[in-house]
Amino acid sequence: MEALNVIHKRASLKACLTEKGISTETVTQILDAARVAPSGRNNQPTRFVIVTDKTLINTVVKEAFAEANALVAGAPVLIFVCANPKDSIVRDGQSYYLFDAGLAMENMLLAAADLGLVTHPMSGFDEAKARKILGIPEEVRIVAATPLSCPAQGAYDEAAKERLAGRTRKSLEEIAFWNSWEGK
Ligand SMILES: Cc1cc2nc3c(=O)[nH]c(=O)nc-3n(C[C@H](O)[C@H](O)[C@H](O)COP(=O)(O)O)c2cc1C
Repeated sequence: MEALNVIHKRASLKACLTEKGISTETVTQILDAARVAPSGRNNQPTRFVIVTDKTLINTVVKEAFAEANALVAGAPVLIFVCANPKDSIVRDGQSYYLFDAGLAMENMLLAAADLGLVTHPMSGFDEAKARKILGIPEEVRIVAATPLSCPAQGAYDEAAKERLAGRTRKSLEEIAFWNSWEGK
């Protein structure tokens, strides 16, 4: 898929997970896409905790995830995107580690879609509980997580079809202002 095509086809697909395994090479390819994401001053504050142990996935999902996100226990891989705020650039009081982590997450989501795999970024979990279970240091924030899975049925396009058909987004007129705020 071309980049623009992948961007438009990426969707959050927690309803389409399957326990079928994913090779370490493929997971590594996706992590490598995250690794090359840009970051403020190239500080590279983002870290990844990749959970592949089935018992650990079950434990962290059961203990820390919101009920609405319990489906992710069905994935063979669960990736936590983390960052230490002290590694962040700060400009005008804004700390950019969340932005950096977001860029890395988006690279992962797009790389996964390009490889025909499904993902679903989420923040709906108890950070402190997940941190404890995964042995993540106190000073490191867990920014978000995503399951990584083959589509439960058929190929990626089939899995994403319904979600994409129901996609809602604001129009460009509502969110893009040319030359000045609310400029037309
Ligand atoms: C920061 C962030 C947190 C999210 N947390 C959750 C979550 O806890 N549970 C969930 O089902 N989806 C979660 N989502 C997914 C969004 O609901 C989803 O991206 C949005 O509805 C747009 O749908 P799409 O990704 O399929 O285009 C999260 C997305 C982001 C970016």
